[in-house]
Amino acid sequence: MQTLWRAFCLLVLLSQPAWAQPPATGSGQIQDRLKAVMADPAALKAAVEAGRKASFFCANCHGEGGNSKAPEVPNLAGQNASYLLEQIRKFGAGERKDQFMEGMIKVLKDEERMQIALYYAESKVAPGRADPNLALRGRDTFTRLCTRCHGEKAYGNETIPRLAGQKIPYLQTTITRYRDKTGVRNNELMAIATAPLKNEDVAAIANYLTQMP
Ligand code: HEC
Ligand code: HEC
Repeated sequence: MQTLWRAFCLLVLLSQPAWAQPPATGSGQIQDRLKAVMADPAALKAAVEAGRKASFFCANCHGEGGNSKAPEVPNLAGQNASYLLEQIRKFGAGERKDQFMEGMIKVLKDEERMQIALYYAESKVAPGRADPNLALRGRDTFTRLCTRCHGEKAYGNETIPRLAGQKIPYLQTTITRYRDKTGVRNNELMAIATAPLKNEDVAAIANYLTQMP
């Protein structure tokens, strides 16, 4: 199913002439605009509604309202808006690697990117099921190594992602990529933080995080 969608997405992308793509602006300008919209309730409401419409295509993989049905596709629901916007920028700039995400994001204008980020941030994430023993072990490791940035409830903040309620396979893949410096996701802080983790620790942390509300 996902393979089919990926093929379809690629077709859509290839049918977009290069000159139709909007110029990508730096992260500062659009992040400032995001803050301004978030501070204005009427503008926020309008942006969330526009984001709901603009995200119809994303729902094929990320699910209705940003709760993904596919294990390797992250939930976007409840994620921090400025983190989402920054990751969208990174895909667009090729700083974060995913063949399909990189291409797809290029066809979105800055304003649409912001609206989609706000829409998903406002949606509620549906926590996943976990192995209780693994989750218990994961809690200890997470508390020791990760809460100082991601927070006790794993909600993150403006620049740090929410992890609570995220999918187990996506978490495992992602944490391992930072640790092993595969070049898919480059972040020095995360490379250092994950360096001491064994694969069992990664599995335990993922089980702990997925069931968090
Ligand atoms: C063909 C399936 C597919 C579609 C359609 C799709 N995505 Fe994704 N998206 C993915 C996958 C897979 C990943 C995880 C990439 C990785 O492994 O890092 C991802 C990751 C992301 C992330 C990073 C989330 C995080 O927690 O870091 C954001 C943001 C995102 N997508 C936004 C979008 C938006 C906005 C759209 C619609 C314009 C969209 N995606 C459409 C498959 C898809
Ligand atoms: C010093 C601060 C810091 C510490 C400590 C830290 N993180 Fe992070 N983490 C970040 C930042 C910043 C990002 C976003 C990096 C990026 O843009 O790729 C991130 C991203 C992540 C992501 C990607 C989420 C997504 O939606 O794609 C995961 C998973 C994660 N961290 C797990 C952990 C775990 C597990 C630990 C403890 C072993 C940890 N982090 C410790 C700062 C930190």
